[in-house]
This record gives sequence, C-alpha cells and structure tokens, in this order.
Amino acid sequence: MGVNLFNADSGIQIRPEIRALPAYRQGRPAPADAFKLSSNENPYPTPAWVIEAMADVDIARYPESTSRELRERLAEIWGCATDEIIVGAGSVSLLYQLILAVAGPGDEVIFPWRSFEAYPWLVTVAGATRVQVPNSVDHRHDLDAMAAAITPATRAVIVCTPNNPTGAAVTAAEFRDFMAKVPANVLVILDEAYAEFSHDPEIVCGKKIRGDYPNVVTLRTFSKAYGLAGLRIGYGIGPIDILQAATSTAIPMVVTAQAQRAALAVLNHADDAMAVVHKICERRDAVWAALREQGWDTPRPHGNFVWLPTGTDTDRVAAGLEAGGIITRVFAGEGIRITIGEPESVDVLLRICADIVSG
Ligand SMILES: Cc1ncc(COP(=O)(O)O)c(C=O)c1O
Repeated sequence: MGVNLFNADSGIQIRPEIRALPAYRQGRPAPADAFKLSSNENPYPTPAWVIEAMADVDIARYPESTSRELRERLAEIWGCATDEIIVGAGSVSLLYQLILAVAGPGDEVIFPWRSFEAYPWLVTVAGATRVQVPNSVDHRHDLDAMAAAITPATRAVIVCTPNNPTGAAVTAAEFRDFMAKVPANVLVILDEAYAEFSHDPEIVCGKKIRGDYPNVVTLRTFSKAYGLAGLRIGYGIGPIDILQAATSTAIPMVVTAQAQRAALAVLNHADDAMAVVHKICERRDAVWAALREQGWDTPRPHGNFVWLPTGTDTDRVAAGLEAGGIITRVFAGEGIRITIGEPESVDVLLRICADIVSG
C-alpha cells in the first residue's frame, strides 16, 4: 500500500498569519426539532417571484461580470450614477475587495470590537494589521477611540451600523462628528448589512449621506432583509475610483446570473419584500420588550437579532437555550446573539429565557 502524501506535512511555506488563522466560524446548524437562530437569516420561504426570476438562466454561460442591469436599477433607487454602484458575492466579498484594494503589509485597518467576525479575518488575509477598538460599555462603537486610533499607517476604518452582534447603531450626528476627525485619505467602510431593519430617523443612513464624503463606501446586502443569503449577493455605493479599485481585486464573474436576477426581482417587488421586514421588526421589538420585562439587560436592537450580554454566564445561558431547542451564536465570556426567526420560535425563546432568569 502506498503512503498517502496528502496526510504528511507538504513542506509548502504557508504565510504564518494564515496558518494561525482559525477557520471562519459559521452559525451552527440546528437539528430538525430546533430553531436555527444563529446566522441572522430571514426565516421566511423564498417567494415564488424570486424562483421564477431565476428559472430561465442559462447556466452553461458565464454571468455578465459587472451586474450591469442590477447596478442600473440600484443607481435609480439611490439617485446616483451606475458606476457609483458595485455588486459582489455578498457584502463580505465587497469588504474583502475594498480592504485588499487599500491595505497590505504594514498598513492598518481599524474596526470596532466586538463586531462582525469576518473583519479581523479579512484584514489578516489582506496582509494588513488589525486594530480592534473595544465597544463602549453600552455595546456601541466608541467612535472617539476609533478616531484616536488613526495613525499615518491607517488605510481604512470600518463602521458597522447596526452593529453585529450587539445591535446598537450609530446616529447621524455621531457619524458626522466622527468623519470630521477622519483624514480624507482614509477609507471609511459603512457596513449597513442590517440597515433595512432600522427605522429610527436618528440613525445614520448611507443613502442620506451619499455623496457627502469622497472617502465613504456604504455596503448593503440582499442576504438579511431580503432572504437571499444562499445566493451570495450584496452591493456597495461610493466614489467611482474606489469602486474601480475594488473591482480590480474581485474574483472575476463571481456574482452568478441567478443572484443578479433574484436581486432585481426583490427590487421590483419592494413592497412585498419590505412587508416581511416589517413583520420581523415588529417581532424583534416584541421580543426585546419581553426580555427587558423579564429583567434581561439587553440593548435596544436595530437589526434582526437581539444581544444578551451574559458575560461570564454565557455558557450556562447558551446551554439552557440549546437544551430548549434554540440554537444561537455564542461569544464565550461575552454574550449571545439571537436572530429573530420564525413566529413559532418566539414563545419557545421567551419561555426558556424566563426559566433561566427564575432559575
Ligand atoms: C455586519 C455584517 N456585514 C456583512 C455581512 C455579510 O453579509 P453577506 O456577505 O451575506 O452580504 C454580515 C453577515 O453576517 C454582517 O453581519
């Protein structure tokens, strides 16, 4: 029998920072009798008009690489030029393309922490240095500290609002003050993956500030509010030269024709799509109110999830939830993020939470 050389150390010199990277942690799958509230997905079935929109795609052909039709539609909606829109295979892909375009070895990228788990990973893969700025005690970005962390080596700063996983949001006034402190040559990525769930007029909105800053790119996704997570499609809005650079760092033709068609269908059925978002928001507000009533110290949620800052109790609370059939995203020693899911999950979740409090 031959030796399996694939089990041996290949001797290939892997970049040490890549060797040290843990694999990206995906929201845990749930057993059939449990609710998967671990990935901030939309719980509703895919509408027929999305399925129909994808039906006649010729998958023997490569997709149109610039997502032109979708960008034209988005440009109408955002009131901008088609070239001020970029489409990617999920907004995480656009985050990566932008970071790769501006930062490499020796450069720094600042982001809040705790925040979206991909940020540190993407910065390291780009070869740049991560600068994580702890959130304030009320689970919000510490924008003063983020601005103070900027050095001549800073190439980009990520602002995540509403913030995953804490659900807190940045106000328009806070963003304006922050931008006054950011040098014009530092890229600010405004990650609004959950923007559609935030209806507070005080919260910063990429659409309202579009064109105000030559160094801001806003990112949105079809994964969360619009239920297309599995198709991988998101978009960015920003200055043309930055988006051109981000196009240069993309994997060519990575956005499938099905994803482009489905996204267009969502935009063409905006009322139906937003009706689902409203249902989720109502459920979120009810869950949040009930949790507060039970005594949980949970910050006001602006996304499609709630955050339980359980600290050293995290493992115990997560085990209780899991035993009751609620699969969450657990951040050991910090807290638990729970997606607002199916209507049937709400009573189960609240009952277990009440039991945990009384226990
Ligand atoms: C804050 C934030 N940004 C970006 C993403 C990426 O979303 P997608 O790549 O599905 O568009 C996520 C997904 O969880 C997120 O939470």
